[in-house]
Amino acid sequence: MHAVITDGTSRIQDVMTGGQAAPLYPRLMGALRAGESATAALDQADAHDPMDRFLSLLAIYDLSTAPLAETGDGARWAGAPAVVALKQRLESAWMAELDAVPIPDPTPITLERGMRALAARDRLPRAYRWLADEADWTEVVQFLAIEGGPDGGFDDLVAVCQVGLPVVAKRELARNYWDEMGAGDGSRVHTTLHASMAAAIDMPRIARTQQPAAALARVALGGLLATNHWLQPEMVGALGLIELQAGPRCRMVLRAFDRLGAPRDAYPFYAEHAEVDPRHGRDWLHNAVLPLSAHHPEWAARMLRGAWWRSQTNRALFDILPSLVSGGAGRARVA
Ligand SMILES: [Fe+2]
Ligand SMILES: [Fe+2]
Repeated sequence: MHAVITDGTSRIQDVMTGGQAAPLYPRLMGALRAGESATAALDQADAHDPMDRFLSLLAIYDLSTAPLAETGDGARWAGAPAVVALKQRLESAWMAELDAVPIPDPTPITLERGMRALAARDRLPRAYRWLADEADWTEVVQFLAIEGGPDGGFDDLVAVCQVGLPVVAKRELARNYWDEMGAGDGSRVHTTLHASMAAAIDMPRIARTQQPAAALARVALGGLLATNHWLQPEMVGALGLIELQAGPRCRMVLRAFDRLGAPRDAYPFYAEHAEVDPRHGRDWLHNAVLPLSAHHPEWAARMLRGAWWRSQTNRALFDILPSLVSGGAGRARVA
């Protein structure tokens, strides 16, 4: 996962010293530090509010997907019965909410048309136009710190998504993954480009406890999909939507950089995605989504479902992001 919004140490310190988190999350973190017998006390525990839910889910997803140096020994409790039960409780409630919002066109004439319609729906949220044309430099930096890049953590998500996939689609995901790896050029690895960009603009690392629940939910969707193999069709759809929408959004970031005179090293990460993601989106659709629906016709609706989940989590964040990072109280919250 891109590192901008993940800082395991500060997260734990926030809980231990700040008391800003809601009830379940500090209990979960304490139990993971104490060991398996302590996790049993999470039996029947539930989240206090959306913030508490997504802080807790992200902590659970970290156990299976984050660098071990961040999670430490707690990673061994990913399979502890009470942790697994808690994860399922939180995820079931969340998925029920996502499914309660009707998909705009549940039975499109073709799957391709359905995916493209979802991609077009919010391809360029107003937030990105505001970023390109109006935001000042501080607002741009804070926006990008929460946005996390067009495909934060995408390399690991694509890697997990390949497991058990029919070869016809696996090949496309492998090609995409290799692009994430800079096609073998270490300096072009997307995570490296993101780190260079973050350093160039002095991007802050915003602790999860200081982010809005909508930002946490958007990141948590990757964890939901990556840790539930049975959601593989939804994962293919959600990742496809990311690719289909990233190009125009990255061009808006570049426009903001041009307007505000960003340093040179800020550019390559967004320039790369502005250029290659339209191709990635098209190829993902033609070489993964469509062959998979031919292979497994019952996957078609589920791939659309995953894309719709991603669309919902995007909208929830981008609807509030400009006001969150623009002046006054909003800026104070994420500074
Ligand atoms: Fe990327
Ligand atoms: Fe891509």
